[in-house]
Amino acid sequence: MIRQNRMSRNFAMGAILALSLVQMSSAMAQPPPKDPNNYVPGLGDLMGSLQVQHGKLWFAGSQQNWPLAAYTVDAIKEGIADMIVLRPRYKRESIVEMLTLLTGQPMQDLEEAVQKQDSVLFMQAYDSLTEGCNVCHSNHGYGFIAIQRPAAPAWTNLRYRP
Ligand code: HEC
Repeated sequence: MIRQNRMSRNFAMGAILALSLVQMSSAMAQPPPKDPNNYVPGLGDLMGSLQVQHGKLWFAGSQQNWPLAAYTVDAIKEGIADMIVLRPRYKRESIVEMLTLLTGQPMQDLEEAVQKQDSVLFMQAYDSLTEGCNVCHSNHGYGFIAIQRPAAPAWTNLRYRP
């Protein structure tokens, strides 16, 4: 009898422990509750605007509209800076180092290309930025979000010709 009691007590303790572990891990996995007065866009939302700017930059640069290209390079820089502040982690792992490593040099080269109005450098820098996007996507299991030079402008109400 005594032995049986101890066994069932052990079983109950085990069950409680297992339950609290499940609760703990589900609490950790849950995103914080949404606060309408404190809305923080998700990484996917921030990436979406990066995609828009990346597309515009191609047409601005390839049409040699350097002021528009400079403006768009700035917007991309701001977008990346926003990610570092607002969404520095993806699935609890920091993406800051990878963001800096993969986009830092291409962004610097893009700035230089725009400043020198150098089309060849522009295209090289643009392609290495695009490669940076894709390296990170592949690293995070999003290889299917493959970024490329756009074939046609997504926004035709903006004139790319200088
Ligand atoms: C440091 C890593 C990293 C870099 C660099 C990066 N991305 Fe992403 N991107 C991600 C991750 C992670 C996701 C998935 C986010 C999610 O679904 O919550 C993503 C998702 C996206 C999406 C899909 C968003 C959606 O919800 O539709 C687009 C578009 C995108 N990225 C564009 C870009 C472009 C363009 C660049 C380069 C200029 C870029 N990304 C650079 C990590 C990165």
